[in-house]
Amino acid sequence: MNFSRRNFIRSASVLAAMTMNEMQSMAAAMEVRTNGNTVADNDDAFWDKVRVMFPLSKDLTYLNNGTFGPSPYPVIEAVKEGMMENDMNGQYGNWDVTVSKIAKFVGARDEEIALTHNVTDGINIGCWGIPLKRGDEVIITTHEHSGNAMPWMNRQKQHGIVVKTYTPASTAAETLTRINDLISKKTRAIGTPHIPCTQGQILPIKEICTLARDKNMFSIIDGAHGPGMIPLDLHDIGCDTYASCSHKWMLGPKGTGFLYVRKDFQDTLSPLTVGAGSDNGKWDLMATPVVTGDYVGNAHRYYAGTQSNGLYAGVVAAIDFIEMIGAENIYKRLKHLGKYTQDSLLAFGDKIELLTPTEERSRGPVNGFRIRGTDFQKFFGMCSQKKIRIRGVNENGLNSLRVSTHIYNNKQEIDKLMSVVKEAIG
Ligand SMILES: Cc1ncc(COP(=O)(O)O)c(C=O)c1O
Repeated sequence: MNFSRRNFIRSASVLAAMTMNEMQSMAAAMEVRTNGNTVADNDDAFWDKVRVMFPLSKDLTYLNNGTFGPSPYPVIEAVKEGMMENDMNGQYGNWDVTVSKIAKFVGARDEEIALTHNVTDGINIGCWGIPLKRGDEVIITTHEHSGNAMPWMNRQKQHGIVVKTYTPASTAAETLTRINDLISKKTRAIGTPHIPCTQGQILPIKEICTLARDKNMFSIIDGAHGPGMIPLDLHDIGCDTYASCSHKWMLGPKGTGFLYVRKDFQDTLSPLTVGAGSDNGKWDLMATPVVTGDYVGNAHRYYAGTQSNGLYAGVVAAIDFIEMIGAENIYKRLKHLGKYTQDSLLAFGDKIELLTPTEERSRGPVNGFRIRGTDFQKFFGMCSQKKIRIRGVNENGLNSLRVSTHIYNNKQEIDKLMSVVKEAIG
């Protein structure tokens, strides 16, 4: 929390309104500020202090960050403050700060970031904006979230494109082979996720985008699970578009997202939703014929109209929070917890089917599994009774379970889940 801009009276009233938990969170913030230093992925005492900064209920074992990431206090505070400033001063529209912050965070330029409200918004802009004609082919996976399946299927329905699918393999090399095998003379785009929601394996996104570029195809990436989990450099990845959100691994406000559109690609990708802010203002309804003006020369052409000051202040605070701990430190801790989960599941031998690859570059903090002989919904129910929140995966008939861990989780929580697995196995 930043008190520098406040007068004494306001600071005092804020302090008076703070709960004990918020005060403990402020104290913890002093201790987890790493100033760019490395923190060991197994330094559980450090990560316990990070946990103090989350209001997440202590009697809930939340192992479902892949659906949404609970925000820490500083993010919630920033949202409240942003709304308060908006409503007290009539101030409106300071979103360029957020755009710039996101751009730096993901290795892009300011003019390459459009604000959206979720991943689905960004995918639709990418999918609907590329020039495709009847018979053109697009490659996606069999593991799509509906947010990356429906837009492409909609184009199949409406424009006669052909959606082709591959199933992610247990190694990055085999996944690349499967994609290569699907490519024909008619393939125009790869619309793959960076990290599918089902099993959370990290796909070889840079190689996939390089392949797309080499074969003159568009790369329209579903990046729901990238930022906040993995330090990103989108220029290095080389995609045409990357749709993401702040409400999963970035731990930001729910209903905030963004779309990266490579600068050189913006004249190829048609805007889907236009209005105030997306044009250069040089239009004239009084002229005959009407003068249309043009799109702005940056990714603002992809979004328009009023945005929320409060929510986007929260996005800035979420990135500050991540940078305070260190994106690299977070990534390593997440890999550590993911490995701990994998090892714990593998210890059950053939009673468990681990679906997420163990290959170093493909594994992250999300793991998919099945318990042989136990229906996934039954196990989900057993967990719910014990206030353990995981996700059932019914996408594409996978009928499996997903556990995803972030920095507010610890090994005891994973152990608690494993005790329910043990009970299910009998
Ligand atoms: C891989 C993937 N893509 C897309 C989405 C849709 O995200 P949103 O709800 O932000 O639109 C999700 C959400 O869980 C997801 O996991």
